[in-house]
Amino acid sequence: MTAWWRRSLGGQIVSLMLVALLAGQAMGFALSWNSRNTALKTAAQSEFISRTATLAEVIETMPDDLRRDVLLASATTSTRFWASSADPRPEGRNWYAGARAYLLEPLSDIVNDRSPPETRLADGRQAEVVRNKAFAGWSPLASPLWTYQTPASVLPFEGQIGMGLAVPLPDGFWLNAVFYKPRQTDAGMVQSLISTFVTAIVLCLFGLISARLIARPLRALTEAAEALGRGEPLPARPESGPEDIRNLHVAFNRMQERLHRFVADRTRMLAAIGHDLRTPLTTLRLRVELLPDTDLRDKMIATLDEMHRMTEATLLFAKGEAATEPTRNIELSALLESLCDDLAETGFDVAFIEADKITFRCRPDAIRRCVRNLVENAVRYANKATVSVVATAQSVEIRVDDHGPGIPEDEMQQVFAPFYRLDRSRNAQTGGVGLGLAIARAIAQQHGGDITLSSNAPGLHVSLVLPRA
Ligand SMILES: Nc1ncnc2c1ncn2[C@@H]1O[C@H](COP(=O)(O)OP(=O)(O)OP(=O)(O)O)[C@@H](O)[C@H]1O
Ligand SMILES: [Mg+2]
Repeated sequence: MTAWWRRSLGGQIVSLMLVALLAGQAMGFALSWNSRNTALKTAAQSEFISRTATLAEVIETMPDDLRRDVLLASATTSTRFWASSADPRPEGRNWYAGARAYLLEPLSDIVNDRSPPETRLADGRQAEVVRNKAFAGWSPLASPLWTYQTPASVLPFEGQIGMGLAVPLPDGFWLNAVFYKPRQTDAGMVQSLISTFVTAIVLCLFGLISARLIARPLRALTEAAEALGRGEPLPARPESGPEDIRNLHVAFNRMQERLHRFVADRTRMLAAIGHDLRTPLTTLRLRVELLPDTDLRDKMIATLDEMHRMTEATLLFAKGEAATEPTRNIELSALLESLCDDLAETGFDVAFIEADKITFRCRPDAIRRCVRNLVENAVRYANKATVSVVATAQSVEIRVDDHGPGIPEDEMQQVFAPFYRLDRSRNAQTGGVGLGLAIARAIAQQHGGDITLSSNAPGLHVSLVLPRA
């Protein structure tokens, strides 16, 4: 079983569009996400650096008390400042712990100078500041934004948006600054997900509509091709629509016209041959009748009679082909039953196995002729025929069975050739010329079906399968 998205044109178009959309979005997202993050990080850090430089300038001459208050008041949601009497850099890793404690202190408490209750320390995201961090070590800060007189040292937060700064003040104290921004789910990301989703829905709709637009003329053409296969007379397809579809219609019309012309030419030629052979055959027969040798004369007359029958049959075949019978809906079981009854009335031993009603679209006279040829063969070569029919949603199968001599396996194809007769039939005075199966197969094929022969052990099993379209 094929997956649904490969089975239908709509499925294929929609899934291709979705794959293209997702691939495009994912690529765009990957590109913009990184640069957006870097830009955000740089902006926030720059702001922090210049703020610290300004603050250092402001507090350098202040008395201790005031300095402490100013530093506390300068805190923002993601920055903290404090002064220490010694160089903080030798503290190493421990500096993080101190910075973290400052950061965990809620902003309101810092401003109001209240010491934090223990419970407030449990803020999960802030706690990530130093967890599992590799200690990168302090290094001199090289930034054009640094405007303060003495150079600062920086402690980067690897992989996170944040950094620490240590600035020596003229009076021997050190200004400590920490900046840390926890990662947040980006509102932009949610928005772009929503917009991708909406675009996907719109694309699906357009995909389905375009698939319908493409499929409609294709479906019409499929039906036309089926009807052509059944030999139904068709009007030419309207040569309209987009260029690709129009070309398809033009090609189909041309094919249909050639096909009709081909069949008509062939039939005309067959009729002409049959017709033109009649006169020389009649002349020949008249001359043969004048021969003195009676024995030879009778044999020649018999052969000439057979040739005469062949030309007559050929003419009949050609006429039948040329006749354009309209396609109709019929009840197949009834048609077969009445055919069998007719044959039984003329003295043939034909049995029809009752079947349910089967509505079937065909050229009924042609189908009658086809089945009659098969039944006639069975009664002619096996004295008795059984006809049955089974139908499925897709096709009908008409079976003609007998228990006669059958046909050898290697001749089952050849008997369909016009004028081909098995040796034993040739010798026996059974009358046919060898056109019956050729005609039957031609009719089956005009209906889009075929006839197959198989052994009935003993006898012949003939199966005529026709599509129900
Ligand atoms: N049911 C059958 N059992 C045995 N042989 C058969 C059967 N049907 C056909 N044949 C063989 O196939 C040959 C071809 O059959 P086909 O119907 O084409 O021609 P035909 O019966 O000889 O002549 P006609 O043109 O009158 O039908 C027959 O001559 C016969 O030898
Ligand atoms: Mg026959």
